[in-house]
Amino acid sequence: MLEKIRSVPVVTSAELENDAHEAFRRYRASYPFVALDTGGYVILRHEDVRKLIVDPRLQATETAMPVQGGITEGALFDIFQHGMLTANASVHARRRSAMSRALANQLSDAFRRHVRLAAKGLLEDCYHDGRLELAAGYAAKLPVIALAGMFGIPDRDVPQFMHDIYEMNEFFRPHATAESVSKAEAAAARLQRTLGALLTRTTAGQAEGFLSHYLKLAEEDDLSSAEVLIQIIQLIIGGTESVRTAIVAQAAGLLSSPDQWRAVCDDPALVPDAVAEALRFEPGIAGVVRVSVEDIDVDGWTLPAGQLVILSSISALRDERVFEHADSFDIFRPNLALSRLTFGGGAHRCVADALGRAELEESLAALTERLPNLSLDSAPKFYGHLFVRKSTECWITWQP
Ligand code: HEM
Repeated sequence: MLEKIRSVPVVTSAELENDAHEAFRRYRASYPFVALDTGGYVILRHEDVRKLIVDPRLQATETAMPVQGGITEGALFDIFQHGMLTANASVHARRRSAMSRALANQLSDAFRRHVRLAAKGLLEDCYHDGRLELAAGYAAKLPVIALAGMFGIPDRDVPQFMHDIYEMNEFFRPHATAESVSKAEAAAARLQRTLGALLTRTTAGQAEGFLSHYLKLAEEDDLSSAEVLIQIIQLIIGGTESVRTAIVAQAAGLLSSPDQWRAVCDDPALVPDAVAEALRFEPGIAGVVRVSVEDIDVDGWTLPAGQLVILSSISALRDERVFEHADSFDIFRPNLALSRLTFGGGAHRCVADALGRAELEESLAALTERLPNLSLDSAPKFYGHLFVRKSTECWITWQP
């Protein structure tokens, strides 16, 4: 058994940041998991990820990750201490319940209309330029505008809200530097203050909508004020990077195969399939992070206890055992429904997957409707192999 643990290959972060798909494809053929040079293991195959995501021997990491990085207090630490994503068992269920019920109520035609209108507005603003850097000019803005609309944040405050969100999110990338961590801490503290003031106004009855509904449900579930604030911040973390990356991925995937782009422009009923294939091809979240509490047998190899374990969506969703021509973007593949693994599974399965899909569908429909003669000038590269992912610039052009 020990011999097998020793002989699992070690993959370097540099290798993964350079081309995670190529590295995972190579290892997946012979090994169910690989070791990371920075510590921990990455599970590679679709069937294993699917099973392990509901295995109680893999637990959420609670505060282990910030503590490992020397962070034991502050606004970033609060996210791990009071949030649902890093909590286990009954603590997790209690923190998730009110949010899950509030979100079910939120998904309405009005939400879709708000996103579509915002998407159209962004395209109208740059229409006469004939070109746009899609990642910063469209994909980064839409999920923030969607959240700001849900929370009732006034338009004039959206630029600062957006700035703070993306500065905070830098903490969740591999290789965050001391400077980016310090900026992320300050941004998380500013977001706590902004949202805290908004919650105070909502409690005083000065605001209606999603937050006031959520607050009522959270009170029924006995959540502390710190827990309420942090679940909202986790909604922001979960709902920005993932959507930003996916908006770029779906446009780039389609525009790289012009026949498929044309097919979606001609038949808007194909938009959900295009979204599903993009979520498989370049998932916005690289994988889910857990810690093993026992030794676990995976395809005859022993995954040791007490280790960080990444259940890799980017590898599982390109597993050639499940997806024919896995490295081709194909919105007509027969098993598109399997791309749902991109939203995780088990108790922590994405609490807002329907909202995320709605944002992706509306943002793609707005693009195909307004700019059917679009071309891709520079194809983006996607990186990030642990949790959130990001794309490089993605320039698109059209004839105004
Ligand atoms: C393309 C879009 C999205 C993808 C690919 C995605 C993916 C995921 C994944 C893989 C998980 C599970 C994490 C784990 O088990 O450790 C998750 C959880 C979560 N997501 Fe999403 N997500 C998306 C959109 C959103 C949106 C729009 C929001 C909020 C508005 C959101 C909020 C959350 C939250 C709060 C959790 C934690 C759930 C829990 O721990 O119980 N996500 N998401």
